[in-house]
Amino acid sequence: MQIAPSVFAADLGDLHAAMRLCEQGGAAMAHLDVMDGHFVPNLTFGPPVIEALVARSQLPVDIHLMVEDPDRLLDLYLALKPRWVSVHYEAATHLDRTVAAIRAAGSGPGVALNPATPVEVLHDILPALDFVLVMSVNPGFSGQGFVPYALDKVRRLRRLIEERGLPVRIEIDGGVTAANAAEIRDAGVDVAVSGSAIFAADEPIEALRRLCRIGAERAS
Ligand code: DX5
Ligand code: ZN
Repeated sequence: MQIAPSVFAADLGDLHAAMRLCEQGGAAMAHLDVMDGHFVPNLTFGPPVIEALVARSQLPVDIHLMVEDPDRLLDLYLALKPRWVSVHYEAATHLDRTVAAIRAAGSGPGVALNPATPVEVLHDILPALDFVLVMSVNPGFSGQGFVPYALDKVRRLRRLIEERGLPVRIEIDGGVTAANAAEIRDAGVDVAVSGSAIFAADEPIEALRRLCRIGAERAS
């Protein structure tokens, strides 16, 4: 299991330092939470800020669009050549078209699911995805507690993927800490997003390295 730190939980006055910390601590990607103040009751950053970050970092980025009507803004984000882009199932009206547009632009498409949305809704579109983002908190804020039933969703999704031999990866987002990372890894998660457990720690880089070590251990 790889780790993608959510820089939304970092010092927003120094995002370059947050990106550097991700690189030095062994992160696979930087997870960038885009919030529009409509789909979620919070606002973060948009294309110009992300453009400035990717221009000065080697690290691939994983853009999590928590926005209503993602088609309206998608091209601005795809122009930044992110490795992964996810849109919310609950926010995308024409999901098949949106996923195809992400792939056509050369990024890996993903669909994010709120805690209350069952993984089975993705049954038909699964072969078109590079990844599924299982939200383990209600989107909008960092520092919330892990929703326990998210792990059962991961196990069910893992079965759906393996039964059909698909190369789809599973990402989990929210409330990931050193205390629950091993259980999350063992449930079948490929990439864990973690924000406050890294950036609110006394030694953020050590916290990230510790999560990466847990992620790299074999299932217990
Ligand atoms: C929540 C975001 C998450 C969040 C994770 O809407 O999608 O990426 O920043 O933060 P923690 O790890 O603190 O729950
Ligand atoms: Zn996120």
